[in-house]
Amino acid sequence: MIVSSTQNVPEVSAKPRHVAIIMDGNGRWATSRKLPRTAGHIRGVQAVRRAVELCARENIPYLTLFAFSSENWRRPEEEVSLLMKLFVKALQKEVVKLNKHNIRLKVVGDLEPFGDNLGKLIQEAEHLTHQNTGLTLTICANYGGRWDILQAMQQVIKTRLAKQVALDDVISENEITPFLSMSYAPEPDLFIRTGGEIRISNFLIWQLAYTELYFTDTYWPDFSTADFEAAITWYAQRERRFGRTSAQLDS
Ligand code: IPE
Ligand code: IPE
Ligand code: MG
Repeated sequence: MIVSSTQNVPEVSAKPRHVAIIMDGNGRWATSRKLPRTAGHIRGVQAVRRAVELCARENIPYLTLFAFSSENWRRPEEEVSLLMKLFVKALQKEVVKLNKHNIRLKVVGDLEPFGDNLGKLIQEAEHLTHQNTGLTLTICANYGGRWDILQAMQQVIKTRLAKQVALDDVISENEITPFLSMSYAPEPDLFIRTGGEIRISNFLIWQLAYTELYFTDTYWPDFSTADFEAAITWYAQRERRFGRTSAQLDS
């Protein structure tokens, strides 16, 4: 499914096929209201619903949300534990609804530290929705872009050993991309980060090579349907050259 934007020029249209979002600013949203940071995460769930609904309604095939990074374990235990609880609750509560709306759910990241219970919930949710043909919603949990590349490389090595291919043979992108954790999706067309920071924070670092990057100061819990639509409109005005000149695109 991945068409590498550095190997082939992908087909582009005015509407993004894949939107990937760093949902940032929950803590500051809460702090600015003199609420505990966790209140921001709770409120952020509503913004997730809005974003999913918009993509489903607009027939955007892939939406990917960064919910918990491999670096977020560094946060206070209390906050990490609330984030886990919210994730479990959302899985239990929302999956039936997602299924009803023909949405396929995927959870990617290093899921092992989450334990058997959450692991089982994730598996069940993915299984329930795996044949759905509408929006593919991916939640990145304990995800890190470098982890993704490393685990893919590990599998490349394993495959080579099994097939008795020399380990020092030339490596091509096509050998790696099938093992990336989002190999079922095209590379993101549009990346959105809310909350005012202008950084990637170890999100899909391989896959974002040619993605259009949109940053907004709006905190995630405030990110409205109109805000999301504004990002999509901005995207439609980009000229995606993939190394070529404007004149080449015109002809
Ligand atoms: C993003 O909001 C949510 C997660 C990282 C889980 P933050 O919690 O990072 O909010 P800020 O950046 O501190 O405001
Ligand atoms: C990135 O946000 C991770 C998620 C939104 C899940 P952070 O708030 O953790 O990013 P940094 O650490 O400020 O770059
Ligand atoms: Mg943050």
